[in-house]
Amino acid sequence: MNEEQRLAQRAQTSNTKEKDYSKYFESVYQPPSLKEAKRRGKEEVRYRDDFEIDERLKQMGKGRTFFIQTFGCQMNEHDTEVMAGIFLNLGYEPAAVREEADVILLNTCAIRENAEDRVFGELGHLKGLKRERPDVLLGVCGCMSQEESVVNRILKEQQHVDMIFGTHNIHRLPSILHEAYLSKEMVVEVWSKEGDVIENLPKARLGKVKAWVNIMYGCDKFCTYCIVPYTRGKERSRRPEDIIQEVRQLAAEGYQEITLLGQNVNAYGKDFDDITYGLGDLMDELRLIDIPRIRFTTSHPRDFDDRLIEVLAKGGNLMNHIHLPVQSGSNDILKIMSRKYTREHYLELVRKIKEAIPNVTLTTDIIVGFPNETDEQFEETMTLCEEVGFDHAFTFIYSPREGTPAAKMKDNVPMDVKKERLQRLNKLVNELSAEAMSDYEGQTLAVLLEGESKKDPDVLAGYSEKNKLVNVRAPKEMIGRIVDVRITTAKTWSLEGEYIGPTERGENE
Ligand code: SAH
Ligand code: SF4
Ligand code: F3S
Repeated sequence: MNEEQRLAQRAQTSNTKEKDYSKYFESVYQPPSLKEAKRRGKEEVRYRDDFEIDERLKQMGKGRTFFIQTFGCQMNEHDTEVMAGIFLNLGYEPAAVREEADVILLNTCAIRENAEDRVFGELGHLKGLKRERPDVLLGVCGCMSQEESVVNRILKEQQHVDMIFGTHNIHRLPSILHEAYLSKEMVVEVWSKEGDVIENLPKARLGKVKAWVNIMYGCDKFCTYCIVPYTRGKERSRRPEDIIQEVRQLAAEGYQEITLLGQNVNAYGKDFDDITYGLGDLMDELRLIDIPRIRFTTSHPRDFDDRLIEVLAKGGNLMNHIHLPVQSGSNDILKIMSRKYTREHYLELVRKIKEAIPNVTLTTDIIVGFPNETDEQFEETMTLCEEVGFDHAFTFIYSPREGTPAAKMKDNVPMDVKKERLQRLNKLVNELSAEAMSDYEGQTLAVLLEGESKKDPDVLAGYSEKNKLVNVRAPKEMIGRIVDVRITTAKTWSLEGEYIGPTERGENE
């Protein structure tokens, strides 16, 4: 059947119900619900390792290719690796370019409106491709598919989409694909409540040098502006032994760096009721594994405890760069954001961290133009940045997210004022960045070389311990290794230097 016939058939099935989409949903699909997603149940998380691909589906991908386009944060990048692993287990091969793939997935992000606009833009571009190649399966997954309004809009306006599935449904990919091949309707499977933690999902990691390791899923912080607690469900920590086992395995495979992932990694372990065990304890065990670099992201200032500071101060393979989102320097705004800490608490935490780890680098996230933010409140964000002296900050204009408490707040700040504030803040952040970058000139840094630089294949690119991009002319066989580089030039976003030789590494202790 070609696309036109398909659309005609779809129109027929939906015609009678078109006016009332809720009924359409009820009769055919399980719709996502932000309200339902907000509820935090008391039921225990079950840890499973029984993921299995049905014998009958194992050949599904034979002779077919897949392409996953990823938007959003590291969590999504890692989910993409899991989905790629499932595709490979189904016999699919990766497509070099999107246009040639037999299955295309958009793994989406819902954090701000412009993230969503980009996805709808891509869906628009893909309409032509679907017309030319109607047999291609097109799927939308990730955080946007957890939103009712997005699913409604896709059902209404983007009928060339074949499947929508949520962040809690990734392990169901084989059946979702199977259904999509058979069905003439759009297949929608979005569970609003999180399921179990499944330990044995396959992963096709994108790199051979650096790897992501999930330590927890979800977020229970409910900052009033943020959609993540709705799209990712409640906090669920992986068991320490499973994480340690995964990191050991990665070390054995030759990985040089791991980044522990969670929306709020400092809440790690708070959901265990049989053991008292937190992120500090986990890091203290992981640092003994023979892997050169360990990082973690993202930290929440409220749960950042002394035990973690004490462990990070032991150094070794624990990197001395901490991303510590502050969001605002004003106590009033922090309160309405429900961040549950004050400016003073944040500054005190920074003081303690700097005292324990003198060589530490701090970066942050900031939102400007939160509803009713006054000039004075914004100035407090500026002064906090100066006081802390961040190496870098990711800055955003507040974007209302449907279903969150902040989206209901009246807002008296005009967009041009917000833009002006963002510009002023960016100017300051860039000055702080430039200062931090120029401090590296003349220093020798240990750089983990990842590959050829984007601009020049004769130049290699890698990252320093503090996560600064470094470009250097070095022998290609050093890719994947940590080398010493003497920094000669600081640019705005990167450093350039001279290759010295492999870095001598001591014990992890
Ligand atoms: N879990 C992380 C943040 C994940 S989202 C944390 O709590 O630090 C990454 C950043 O996006 C946030 O730190 C925040 O600065 C920004 N952000 C989140 N929701 C936003 C919104 N509605 N509008 C603008 N920026 C937002
Ligand atoms: Fe969002 Fe706050 Fe959770 Fe971060 S801690 S994911 S900003 S709700
Ligand atoms: Fe975006 Fe979801 Fe990550 S909303 S930032 S992809 S958790």
